[in-house]
Amino acid sequence: SLSPMEHVTLTTPAAGVLVVELNRPKALNALSDALMKDLGVALAHAQQDQAVGAVVITGNDKAFAAGADVKELAREHANREDCVKKACLKTWYDAMGATSKPKIAAVRGYAFGGGCELALACDIVIAAENAQFGLPELSLGTIPGFGGTQRMIRAVGKSKAMDLILTGRRMKADEAERSGLVSRVVPVERCLPEAVEAAQAIAALSSPSVALAKRAVDAADAFVALDEGLEFERQLFYDTFDLDDRREGMAAFCEKRKAAFTDS
Ligand code: HXC
Repeated sequence: SLSPMEHVTLTTPAAGVLVVELNRPKALNALSDALMKDLGVALAHAQQDQAVGAVVITGNDKAFAAGADVKELAREHANREDCVKKACLKTWYDAMGATSKPKIAAVRGYAFGGGCELALACDIVIAAENAQFGLPELSLGTIPGFGGTQRMIRAVGKSKAMDLILTGRRMKADEAERSGLVSRVVPVERCLPEAVEAAQAIAALSSPSVALAKRAVDAADAFVALDEGLEFERQLFYDTFDLDDRREGMAAFCEKRKAAFTDS
């Protein structure tokens, strides 16, 4: 197990589920380098702990995260050369890449700038009715730098992505659901429980088949050509036929019983 960290709080409220709560409430969970480093440590832990099947990333009722820590960005980076020298945002990408296990964002309140991009970098976004999404970077004279320009267009299409990025306007939960950025909208008090339940459901499945499915969907995000994506998916589908869990899952169905997966 991990020693407590300053900027994230870890809990395991259900079998197979790690909840990472961003914990800088006074700054509305503004994402500092230190916070993102803690997040990376938590996700690296999730990756190596076989008991963890899925991760939930959340904030508090008021803020998922109100953006990158603008004060820190302004202080630490004088110019372009400085960004290059300090590999600005590299630790952020490393942090989110620390686990290949499914990540669910449970978003209550503000998810702006880097906070919105953090949610977009998760596999599933579950939003509370009070969630607000936005990419206001242009109002600070910069642009989304943590995947927002690439992931928002994939999530909501070109016109709405341009609308959000170029105007910087805020989008509420219902619009976010209609446009495909979030998978479900629930009352504020249901947001974290619902995400934990979804994570628990994922964790109860065969972990190698979950990993293959996630790779196939991620490939659809990354591939330019549909044909290539379909081919890649078919190869991963073939891979599942080597899994004990695939044999067990199909046998259990045929025998009208619940599958007993062994994650192999
Ligand atoms: C640093 C922040 C912050 C941020 C809030 N705070 N957002 N500090 N970076 N992104 C701090 C405030 O300075 C304040 O600290 C405290 O949190 C409470 O915020 P208030 O503004 O007083 O709260 P409120 O009036 O409720 O307004 C909430 C808000 C507003 C609308 C969310 O805080 C806001 O507009 N924040 C910035 C949103 C934003 O522009 N995000 C994008 C950032 S750029 P003090 O000490 O003054 O009390 C970005 C770049 C990404 O994310 C690209 C690469 C990752």
